[in-house]
Amino acid sequence: MLSQSPALKKISKVNFMSKVIISQSQINFSLADLPEMEKPGKILMVKPTHFSVDYVINPHMEGNVGKVDKENAMTEWENVRDAFKAAGMDVYELEGVEGLPDMVFCANQSLPCITEEGDKEVIMSIMYSENRKPEVAHIEEWYLENGYAIHHLNYKSVDIFEGMGDAVWHPGKRLLWGGYGFRTSKKAYEHISDQWGVPVIALKLTHPEFYHLDTCMCMLNEDSVLIYPAAFTKKGLAMIKSVFPNVIEAEEYEAEKLFACNATCPNGKDVIIQRGSTNTVKELTEAGFNVHEVDTEEFLKSGGSVFCMKLMLW
Ligand code: ARG
Repeated sequence: MLSQSPALKKISKVNFMSKVIISQSQINFSLADLPEMEKPGKILMVKPTHFSVDYVINPHMEGNVGKVDKENAMTEWENVRDAFKAAGMDVYELEGVEGLPDMVFCANQSLPCITEEGDKEVIMSIMYSENRKPEVAHIEEWYLENGYAIHHLNYKSVDIFEGMGDAVWHPGKRLLWGGYGFRTSKKAYEHISDQWGVPVIALKLTHPEFYHLDTCMCMLNEDSVLIYPAAFTKKGLAMIKSVFPNVIEAEEYEAEKLFACNATCPNGKDVIIQRGSTNTVKELTEAGFNVHEVDTEEFLKSGGSVFCMKLMLW
């Protein structure tokens, strides 16, 4: 019998949990089998001092260049921040940077993680648009000052990855859900999966209006998720439904025009959502969530709402 070297043992341990899953038949675990992951209690937000719509890189921005009311944007942002605080989150505020109007969407420049040993780590994004690429270094600086170990993807093998816009942790579990097709390439998830030894369920996004996973999928708690089904493939939907016992579905108008699925449930109980998604609010309330409606109209002009205006951290 061959004896395993320590290096080989390490590799086989990593291979056991690290893989990119693309169909339901590959999901050979139940949620209870997965190791726990500490839940994030902190939030980073970038002030909208320099927020505006200056270019068009998603369908929601069309017709909105120069149309942001900065005063309204600041008020909306402060109310979103206060809603996170009221839900028990610690909020860090970072100044925006002139010339980087989308930096306010700080879910996009990185994907943070806490390891099983309790170490804080982050993988920095490779933004899709030239306009947004310089944002990453500013967010990286914040991580450096806040004790995170920083990883970069090899840009020779991965061309695009937009952080927590597309890669979202399953609440409380070492399992990552990864959207791809518009702002992230599927290849990124092979590297992320190997880096942290976690399975990634990869979901192809099918509609340009739902260009990030966070526009069509909102984690509520370990068992519950809110989605806009038409943004996924049949295979993707089957994977979502096989993992989550409770799947709440948003309708087209609320998902596309009000970004209902870009809501955030920071603590498994309170859901912060753009105002007016009447049917989604009803469904969430019936499922036992406390819903808090906020205004993010200025940010909707840029194709973002509550979820992408912040980053969840440890
Ligand atoms: N204007 C930004 C962009 O197109 C909006 C980003 C919104 N972020 C999100 N995670 N959905 O990149």
